[in-house]
Amino acid sequence: MRTHYCAEVTEKHIGEKVTVAGWVSSRRDHGGLIFIDLRDKDQVVQLVCDPADNAAAHKMAEEVRDQFVLIATGKVRARGEGLENPKLKTGKIEIVVDELTIENRSKPMPFELNDEKVNEEIKLKHRYLELRTQKSYDIFKLRSKATIATRNALDELDFLEVETPIITKSTPEGARDYLVPSRVHGGEFYALPQSPQLFKQLLMVGGFDRYFQIAKCFRDEDLRADRQPEFTQIDVEMSFCDQEDVIAVAEKLISDVFHKCGFDAVPTTFKRMTYADAMENYGSDKPDMRYDLKMVDVIDIFERCDNEIFSKIAAAPKKNRIKALKVPKGDEIFSKRQMKGFEEYVRKFGASGLGYFQMKEEGLKGPLAKFFTEDDLQAIIERCELEIGDAVFFGAGDKKLVWDYMGRFRIYLAEIMDIIPEDTFEFLWVMDFPMFEVEDGKVKALHHPFTQPKSLDFEDIEEIESVAYDIVLNGTELGGGSIRIHKEDMQAEIFKLLGIDEEEAQEKFGFLLEALKYGAPPHGGFALGLDRMIMLMTGSSSIREVIAFPKTQKAQCLLTQAPSEVDTEQLKELSLRIRQQAPTA
Ligand code: AMO
Repeated sequence: MRTHYCAEVTEKHIGEKVTVAGWVSSRRDHGGLIFIDLRDKDQVVQLVCDPADNAAAHKMAEEVRDQFVLIATGKVRARGEGLENPKLKTGKIEIVVDELTIENRSKPMPFELNDEKVNEEIKLKHRYLELRTQKSYDIFKLRSKATIATRNALDELDFLEVETPIITKSTPEGARDYLVPSRVHGGEFYALPQSPQLFKQLLMVGGFDRYFQIAKCFRDEDLRADRQPEFTQIDVEMSFCDQEDVIAVAEKLISDVFHKCGFDAVPTTFKRMTYADAMENYGSDKPDMRYDLKMVDVIDIFERCDNEIFSKIAAAPKKNRIKALKVPKGDEIFSKRQMKGFEEYVRKFGASGLGYFQMKEEGLKGPLAKFFTEDDLQAIIERCELEIGDAVFFGAGDKKLVWDYMGRFRIYLAEIMDIIPEDTFEFLWVMDFPMFEVEDGKVKALHHPFTQPKSLDFEDIEEIESVAYDIVLNGTELGGGSIRIHKEDMQAEIFKLLGIDEEEAQEKFGFLLEALKYGAPPHGGFALGLDRMIMLMTGSSSIREVIAFPKTQKAQCLLTQAPSEVDTEQLKELSLRIRQQAPTA
């Protein structure tokens, strides 16, 4: 049908006859001459319809409107002087049309393509139109490049691509399952996989040694800008390996993929930090290392202060923290009112207050200064390395609470101070995660229950470390993994510590426990969030931009109207009945 894609028509075709096909991105009638910007998968070429050259084509062009589908044949000529468009690949030429076919018409667009301000719901309802933009095409071109680079990199490392089931049994990854009712086994359900975790471990028992999959995962969880209910992982597992072997594969894979996608500055090995240091210094297990703003512990100095609230908190240093966050030149940048306003921000996350000092020429000033001796004020100056013009903020209380709100405050400050560099990638391994966390008295696995603990000798269950690692990119968790438990007795012990009794363990994970009895090799792996990776590579503000047909924050597909009701016959076949929904209070 076509002889060239729009982008391919350049000066070297001047004088030649070409046929192009695509959508009208704009049409301008210059009283006689009609100019049409025709766009195909990417790039635009200019068509000119001149009644003096070809009256029939010009007549046809009069009917043309935005987003009509055209096939145009004509001769390529150089644009007139001063009419070139250096922004376009095809900006030096135009096609003088002598044959124009309107292949299809279009209703007026429900929104202006390329208009960033259009309500997202309208765009999602007509997602196929948004996909017609250059921005979308570029995103999906990069995504395709990244998946091909992933396959090539892992193939070179001798990994086997294997598909694992989609309708299966639940694998716990911390979210709710999407369930699929069975017609044949009335009252029974499959679950869509939250990840291929257990199957990839079984492939190791099966002797495949090195597995990967670009795997669809499904999680029914509260959605955020970097979460979707259905997303894609680059999932990897390997046998007879230790943590260093797995990290080496992940670094090779990530750096290869980024380089193939044009990000040459990405290093081939990444910095590392323990989970404990990440929490103590940045208040987060995924610190953004593109900027500094590191917290300092000042609990020992506050213990000596003359303020009962602080000294009481400081008297329990195992349970509590008092953290200082220095903001260079903060006293000069922020007004007193702004400093007070920051307190409102941290209160939203459970803080009972936010103390601060200003570093003046005459020394430390601020509402708290009166509670400290001159020596201790000096100790704070030295500990926080304060210089004149700096400000320092303090969070005090339960350690998890302080880490959380001071970590958020760090990010908030970086954003309002506009100190986050764009176009740079800061990777960080966060290592030695705790095996368990206790929430409301309930023991939970921090990664998943198949992770190898470093030891099971413990006084405080939250102090058990695991051989688990996360890869963080610019403050977003890009992926995570661990060395797995490969012995049945250890796995059974972990289930017990998680409060899963033997019967439940058999019912839920009997197949895994059984497989571990047949010579399971030592193994480990990781999974990277492909959508998140593309989101970060393309600087997209939401994961929805990099998924062809995404769901909304409320997990709906506005295009197809899923989820939707089904008819009673279908429900009956599945042995299901919809309960009357309880009226909301
Ligand atoms: P984890 O649960 O950490 O580990 O998931 C790995 C990576 O998957 C991405 N991810 C998501 N992306 C978009 N939307 C979501 N709802 C979502 N949830 C997770 C993140 C995350 O880092 N089986 C283990 C991996 C392993 O141990 O090998 C797992 O799934 O980028």
